Amino acid sequence: MRVIDTVAAFRKELDAGRARGRTVGLVPTMGYLHDGHGSLIRRAAGERDVTAVTLFVNPLQFAATEDLSTYPRDLERDVAIASAAGADLLFAPPVEQMYPDGVPIRTTVSVAGPSAGYEGASRPTHFAGVATVVAKLFAVAGDCRAYFGEKDFQQLAVIRRMARDLSFPVHVVGCPTVREPDGLAMSSRNVHLSPAHRAAAPVLHRALTAGRDAIARHGERDPAAVVAVVTAAVAAEPLAELDYAAAVRADDLSVPATLSGEVRLLIAARFGSVRLIDNVGVIL
Ligand code: PAF
Repeated sequence: MRVIDTVAAFRKELDAGRARGRTVGLVPTMGYLHDGHGSLIRRAAGERDVTAVTLFVNPLQFAATEDLSTYPRDLERDVAIASAAGADLLFAPPVEQMYPDGVPIRTTVSVAGPSAGYEGASRPTHFAGVATVVAKLFAVAGDCRAYFGEKDFQQLAVIRRMARDLSFPVHVVGCPTVREPDGLAMSSRNVHLSPAHRAAAPVLHRALTAGRDAIARHGERDPAAVVAVVTAAVAAEPLAELDYAAAVRADDLSVPATLSGEVRLLIAARFGSVRLIDNVGVIL
């Protein structure tokens, strides 16, 4: 695996691969890789000829109140994980390569619809920061499949909408959430949980599963009734502080009058100082 740190070299490498008839898979990350990222890289490597992982802690998606400087970083470990999972290239640019004129930049991408509410409610500038950096990565990478985890489902919906609306030659692939044996979704935030909060956190997956069962097994079609089931399941765990639970349409995250088609159950809760999100899907 080669490590590249300039936009020009990354673009040249992928253009050269495509000119030789090779297909490209892109796995955008902010580093500090775990097995959830590993599964995206393995999927890309299994489907594409060239697998490129990007590693960039994007200042644009952090609010002034969020500490960019303490975001965990370990390039050596990330190189080992990406390489073992089958990546051919690791693009790890410094900030000056991605934002040569500094941050903030004048042109940003905001995606109306799926950016609103849920994570967007507590982090109002976050999704514009994500959409902008991903648009830049898509512009540099060119024709490819890009792999993102379903764990950040709202982010996935924003990126899908952005790629479609701006006509990027990129097919966005959503990949299933990787879970610990007790159901907790893998996240770089899990290491910050105290032992008691770590033991409590699988309640999120249990609550989502109860909501999914209400829909799929018991025929519930009222979004509010499903949310009540999920909320009651979380309330049984005293260490969990629910932020939101929702039953939404999977494409634009709007709440329908009656659940039908592709439905997503979203949840966010605090365990002490750590805020976790999760989601599951149901197809009706
Ligand atoms: O999910 C992430 O790691 C980031 O939000 C992404 C998509 C790489 C953009 O910086």
